[in-house]
Amino acid sequence: MDRFVIEGPTKLAGEVRCSGAKNAVLPLMAAALLSRGVSEIGNVPDLRDVRTFMRLLEILGARCHLEGGDLTIDTTAVTGVEAPYDLVKTMRASIYVLGPLLAYGGEARVSLPGGCAWGPRPVNLHLGGLERLGAKVQLEAGFIHTTAPDGGLQGGSFRFEPSSVGATCNVLMAATLAAGRTELSNCAIEPEVTQLGRALVAAGARIDGLGTPTLVIQGVGELDPIRHRVIPDRIEAGTFLCAAALTGGDVVVRDCVPAHLESALAALGDMGCLLDVGTDFVRLQAPERLRAVEIVTRPYPAFPTDMQAQFMAAACVAEGVSHLTETIYPDRFTHTAELRRLGAEIRLDGATATIVGVPVLEGAPVMATDLRASAALVLAGAAARGTTTVDRVYHIDRGYERIEAKLNALGARIRRENV
Ligand code: EPZ
Repeated sequence: MDRFVIEGPTKLAGEVRCSGAKNAVLPLMAAALLSRGVSEIGNVPDLRDVRTFMRLLEILGARCHLEGGDLTIDTTAVTGVEAPYDLVKTMRASIYVLGPLLAYGGEARVSLPGGCAWGPRPVNLHLGGLERLGAKVQLEAGFIHTTAPDGGLQGGSFRFEPSSVGATCNVLMAATLAAGRTELSNCAIEPEVTQLGRALVAAGARIDGLGTPTLVIQGVGELDPIRHRVIPDRIEAGTFLCAAALTGGDVVVRDCVPAHLESALAALGDMGCLLDVGTDFVRLQAPERLRAVEIVTRPYPAFPTDMQAQFMAAACVAEGVSHLTETIYPDRFTHTAELRRLGAEIRLDGATATIVGVPVLEGAPVMATDLRASAALVLAGAAARGTTTVDRVYHIDRGYERIEAKLNALGARIRRENV
């Protein structure tokens, strides 16, 4: 198991390039199951979750190859319908194969995803949406077993309450091959969802309303393989900008889509950062000391829950008292206890964290608990005085491509050790 040993404090400076978005590539990989042939996806980050999803597709009978950011998925020989527990337990996004397998072949068996570090992660909206398309859903021995009616899935109407990225993707994929008209309301409008829709349209799907909460899908008989280039990872971009802010640095994040980052950029501006926003880059110059900030996480385009931990780390050294309220996952605060070990002053009242900024954090051993919490700890370690060790960095490898190489190129001092 790897850990990071981080020496601080360091001021980050220079340029870093954004990789393709993890949360965009995973549903695109599942969408390859909606056709039989060779799908080609570009700008794919080499992440643990991408490799896991490749293994899942291979278990189903596909052949996958990832090299230099180019991923090919040959689904010609796919006959499998089951996503096994030992794989689903490591990656919840495995549930994305449910909709496509059901829509293309009429059957899917996916192990019921468990919870995660910060609590239960229900799938009722995934299942409810598929049932509305005529699917029969049975829970048996820890598996979700779904079957389509003899004539295949039929169009229907469904409202997501609350809006759900994963459920929108799953039901949208299934609806593309469901006979007739489907209307989905209160859909998630995260860029990763809109990108999936565009890729499906390019493959022959008929979808109206992309980018809005209401999607109308006219089912088609078959789709072509996916041919698409993954959008830049807005969460990775925000993480690097946060790192620059937290360490008092001056960093340019290239190959990003600033329009996908507006709420995070607004928060960084509120904290006193000087931002130069271009078409595909953002430059951040940090102030001598960050100002406190008020953040409430909500669905896109509001402030993303996936950047809450990173901004909490920044608030730990800001001047004044910050408040972070988490409305998507009220328990998503496992990083709080670890940040306190670095000297942070944080109080939790239900879904709101109150952070009293301290002048400097002190390095200490801490433990990663989930993907974004581990990113927050790495950022805090880069700013802290002394040595910080972050255990269980396999969490961070799930969603960040070579994060220590990218941060070290900006002046961080992170060493990966195998322990
Ligand atoms: C996606 O998870 C992302 N994962 C998460 O990123 C992200 O935090 C989340 O969206 C919110 O933006 C991927 O894209 C692979 P949701 P997802 O369904 O789809 C409730 C990361 O760090 N809900 O949008 O699982 C749910 O409890 C990961 O990259 C139901 O009630 O999230 C939550 O309160 C972590 N029933 C809300 O919806 C359901 O069936 C939003 O969750 C599904 C969700």
